[in-house]
Amino acid sequence: MDKERFLGQASFAKGLEDVIVCESKIGYVDGAKGWLVYRGYEIADLVKCSTFEETAYLTIFGKLPRGAELEEFTSKLSSYRSLPEPVHRIIRELPQDGNAMASLRTAFSALGSYDNTGDRFDHSAWTEIGIKQVAQMGTAVGAIARHRKGLSPLVPDSSLCYTANLLYMISGRKPDDRMTKVMDAAMILHIDHEMNASTFASMAVASSLADMYSAITAGLASLKGPLHGGANETVLRMLLEIGVADRADAYLDDMFARKKKISGFGHRVYKTYDPRAVILKKFADEVSATNGTRHLYEIAQKVEERVVKQYGGKGIFPNVDFFSGIIYYSYGIDPGLFTPLFAASRVVGWVARILEYLKDNRLFRPRALYTGDLVASYTPLSERV
Ligand SMILES: CC(C)(COP(=O)(O)OP(=O)(O)OC[C@H]1O[C@@H](n2cnc3c(N)ncnc32)[C@H](O)[C@@H]1OP(=O)(O)O)[C@@H](O)C(=O)NCCC(=O)NCCS
Repeated sequence: MDKERFLGQASFAKGLEDVIVCESKIGYVDGAKGWLVYRGYEIADLVKCSTFEETAYLTIFGKLPRGAELEEFTSKLSSYRSLPEPVHRIIRELPQDGNAMASLRTAFSALGSYDNTGDRFDHSAWTEIGIKQVAQMGTAVGAIARHRKGLSPLVPDSSLCYTANLLYMISGRKPDDRMTKVMDAAMILHIDHEMNASTFASMAVASSLADMYSAITAGLASLKGPLHGGANETVLRMLLEIGVADRADAYLDDMFARKKKISGFGHRVYKTYDPRAVILKKFADEVSATNGTRHLYEIAQKVEERVVKQYGGKGIFPNVDFFSGIIYYSYGIDPGLFTPLFAASRVVGWVARILEYLKDNRLFRPRALYTGDLVASYTPLSERV
């Protein structure tokens, strides 16, 4: 096949690597420096000074809110938390021990059937639905978490912030201030990450003007994968399998010999430390010291040291998923819920980027480089050998 002829003026980048598909003012990733900003604000500053609600507002609306704006946004996030009863019924019908991301994807797809206000595109209506979906994501994660334990969902507590309410709906216990702060920081760090697979999937769906629920459902479907959001659960399972720090060497020798990828390492954009991993490591250190999970942190340190020594020269370093699981597990969260927790934050980035893109929408429609036959003569079924 004549590749040149079919490529024409187009360029070919497998996996769209390094291809720029849109302009955006939302967030910037510098993969060489290990630098991440949302709307110009460094993530380390947002973790220190901001809250999930405030950073969500910043991400979606492009500026830090004034007092009244934050109050209105927070109160919307709180008032939109409930799910229609049929969606709770659907969650209850799903297997208790099934994949929680599959349940979340199903719940969100179903939610779209109970709200068709966004079937026709209207930017301000879709913005409102987007805010509602952020709120409902937390509730859906909580309901799925409870169902996994055979328990009924809890009524959202409007006195709690998004993160504290999410933790309450998962565990039935209200978190203390420190736990809320640490988990809120983790939530802030997961809000947006430029044109990752799930964000791109949700934008591609939205570009057909389908509806916000379809777009967010697509984001969930993509985030589930172990090459993307699913890695946080895989990392924790690896640390549990290693069991003690002394066994990390043998485990890694085997992984290296079989040229297996180590979950929680490597990134399409970062070729140095992921700045989110640097921050999460400090929290993992703190939280594991007092929650009976120090051994997991020690294993992680050993794994980090060996993998960076082995592959650092190739630009492979810990990513956001390497230390987050230790924090969640230390707080008693079931590893099956780690990726849904990621979704409860990343939904903000999906919503923000969809809304930004739709201001000047262009249907995503790339091409494929055809490498098949151009001429084939049809053989009737009875004559095929
Ligand atoms: C995230 C990821 C898909 C991005 O990688 P990518 O840009 O597609 O890079 P590739 O998978 O093409 O890998 C490039 C090279 O680095 C190696 N590599 C990448 N990630 C690696 C990892 N986690 N462990 C060991 N080697 C890794 C590949 O084996 C490949 O080596 P080669 O050139 O000798 O064949 C990849 O790093 C990965 O699979 N990581 C593990 C899953 C994970 O943690 N995902 C969460 C991302 S936030």
